[in-house]
Amino acid sequence: MKALVLAGGSGSRLRPITHTSAKQLVPVANKPVLFFGLESIAEAGVREVGIIVGDRAAEIESAVGDGSRFGLDVTYLPQEAPLGLAHAVHIARDYLGDDDFVMYLGDNFIVGGIRALVRRFQTERPDAQIMLARVSDPRAFGVVEVDGHGRVIALEEKPERPKSDLALVGVYLFTARVHEAVRRIKPSGRGELEITDAIQELVDAGCRVDSVVVSGYWKDTGNVADMLEVNRLVLDGIEADCSGEVHSSELIGRVVIERGATVTGSRIVGPVVVAAGSRIRDSYIGPFTSIDSDCAVTDSEVEYSIVLRGASIVGVRRIERSLIGREVEVVSTPGMLRSHRLVLGDHSKVQVVS
Ligand code: DAU
Repeated sequence: MKALVLAGGSGSRLRPITHTSAKQLVPVANKPVLFFGLESIAEAGVREVGIIVGDRAAEIESAVGDGSRFGLDVTYLPQEAPLGLAHAVHIARDYLGDDDFVMYLGDNFIVGGIRALVRRFQTERPDAQIMLARVSDPRAFGVVEVDGHGRVIALEEKPERPKSDLALVGVYLFTARVHEAVRRIKPSGRGELEITDAIQELVDAGCRVDSVVVSGYWKDTGNVADMLEVNRLVLDGIEADCSGEVHSSELIGRVVIERGATVTGSRIVGPVVVAAGSRIRDSYIGPFTSIDSDCAVTDSEVEYSIVLRGASIVGVRRIERSLIGREVEVVSTPGMLRSHRLVLGDHSKVQVVS
């Protein structure tokens, strides 16, 4: 079995972060979300992984390398434009050959991994197996109807009027039969070759498509709120570890201060991670916050947020539910009480106290 990991796409819902970075590399608990997926694939016993890359190919390749540090053998498969999930399967045709494969969307996060799902597929041998999760508003997902045995009857991509509450999770298991189906489908109204249409083709051709409702936690990290929620979940599982320098400070609960980070005159209430090279001074860092490497937080309060590499926050209270990009500066100007001075990139979002 091989794996096909999708790390192309545009990441429009995570702008402006995705103007300069691949969305699959935005970190949760200071680790790129894509790495969690690669670790699950390795843990499921799959070694050969094709990674679909788009505009951000160079960044993905430099982060993942040849895959050896995950125990994987990675091949990069460039996609000229995000023309759909089934288009990704189409361009991977030669790489995949006639092998079974697990297709993993690089921005999906699944607690508990995929080992049991892969094993079920290998034991049951359906033509394809999809994963489903019950969601309250399925309109942002592929939506699936199943019969009493969990066999798939019909699928629809992001329907306005969903026929069930079962959303497609971004992990799919396929036999080589999917390739005939991909060949037969046409681009959808939004101009993409949809994997939901290819799976519908399989069903219509009389193939057996099984579904498994995932019990563990699943999130598509395509937007900021979901990203923060996944960050919360991962931080919830960390153990306290203080390897950095801490002076005149209070660390409460599960706090990780990496070697090379310094905390002075501050109060940190976990779960929180502070990466190497970051300096926290005279500040409060509240629960569910990840501070990446080489950041400076001075005389400020930050809670339930993700702060990316090299950002600095000075004299600001309080930052909450925020995603702060790389090298961003957030500072207060005490002299200008009633005005805000903003230099924001395209598609930035700022909420200020009015
Ligand atoms: O997260 C689950 C959902 O993922 C499913 O319920 C939907 O049926 C499925 O279509 C997909 O919907 P999204 O709108 O979330 O897909 P997105 O465009 O975000 O792409 C998912 C991943 O695949 C992302 O890491 C980018 C990558 N991608 C996407 C396209 C369209 C590619 O590498 N190439 C592409 O052409």
